Amino acid sequence: MKTYFGLITWLVTICLCAQQNVNYDESKVPAYVLPDLLQANNGEKITSTTQWEKQRRPELLELFASQMYGRTPEGKIDVAYETVTENPNAMNGKATSKQVRFIFSNGNKKIEALLLMYIPNKTKGKVPVFVGYNFKGNHSTTLDTTVLYSPVFHLVKEPDHPDWERGNQTSRWSYDNIINRGYAVATMCYHDIYPDKPELRDHSIVSLFEGYDPENIAPDEWQAIGAWAWGSSRIVDFLETQERIDCDKIAIMGHSRQGKAALWAGAQDERFRIVISNDSGCGGAALFRRKFGETAAIINKNFPHWFCENFRQYNDKEETLPVDQHQLIALIAPRKVYVASAQEDLWADPRGEFLSAYHAGPVYRLYGLTAIESDGMPDLHKPVMGDVGYHIRTGKHDVTEYDWECYLDFADRHFKN
Ligand code: GCU
Repeated sequence: MKTYFGLITWLVTICLCAQQNVNYDESKVPAYVLPDLLQANNGEKITSTTQWEKQRRPELLELFASQMYGRTPEGKIDVAYETVTENPNAMNGKATSKQVRFIFSNGNKKIEALLLMYIPNKTKGKVPVFVGYNFKGNHSTTLDTTVLYSPVFHLVKEPDHPDWERGNQTSRWSYDNIINRGYAVATMCYHDIYPDKPELRDHSIVSLFEGYDPENIAPDEWQAIGAWAWGSSRIVDFLETQERIDCDKIAIMGHSRQGKAALWAGAQDERFRIVISNDSGCGGAALFRRKFGETAAIINKNFPHWFCENFRQYNDKEETLPVDQHQLIALIAPRKVYVASAQEDLWADPRGEFLSAYHAGPVYRLYGLTAIESDGMPDLHKPVMGDVGYHIRTGKHDVTEYDWECYLDFADRHFKN
């Protein structure tokens, strides 16, 4: 069954690429000039971290918000937490599990989400934590039969799709390894925050905010990626109430569309001390100007509910974007950032993902931190781990045990010394 779905996905991807004229040829990458990280809009050179923080960083945040991901509303909505289960003997006694219902409300309407946490029992006191969304429901990340289905399961589940069955995404969540190495993990199904279909906007948390009008969307209004980023910050708000969690050691890990959201969350919310982008590709770590693999036009066509409307003006005109993705990565400095690619994941442009991490270097160097030194890609399975990290592994678009090994090593390096 799994192989059958794998084959279908592969065929669909091939057809889409053929239809959409996708470039996979490095020699056809156009010559490009990246927008300068360290030159302010008024032409001034940025030479200090103060100037970066006071002048350039806010300028770039504004450009990403107004031109790409949409603005995160400043207003707040109420969030209540209800502990649904707590089991001190989860994972054969190795961990304590918790399921917590988040109830978002604006007074008239409510939306619920479900957080699943595992906290190691062996380590006493506060522990660092990985936050990350799952794609197919908390129940898909584990065989633990007490783990509940996502509240929007009935709305988004693809009929008979095996990935949605209990435990079918366990390979993407190395819970054993994470717990054995002394980290907690907190996951939520991303559909709980914004069910990933344009027609389900009314079921998203976006619909709870003041001024929401489905018939009238402002060109810089936030969409799904913005909402997912916002939701991960709400997970952090909750973690701040948890006595076992070390809130100075929060990492966020996002795969693919969630890698895009993780980078945007990390850019905005400085409580994320490590930001990890796994195969995030177009609109995530990959440089738009390379036009390799998925492009702005393709992503805006296939996922019209991910980016703000303003972003559509850059379809087939990536060179006119006032930003590129190395600047998104630089917004995370001086916090730590890690970008990962997969060799066969050409759709996500591994070289473009690497180059973004590389070109974020000047800001990390401004802080006296270690950036990626060379624009030559590291060999397969040879991670680079300074304050900016990167690896490329063999295989396809996915999150694997190997990826987690690297993320845990990177976190050990920055959280345990
Ligand atoms: C599609 C999409 C990508 C995205 C990926 C995913 O392939 O084109 O931009 O990253 O889905 O989220 O798995």
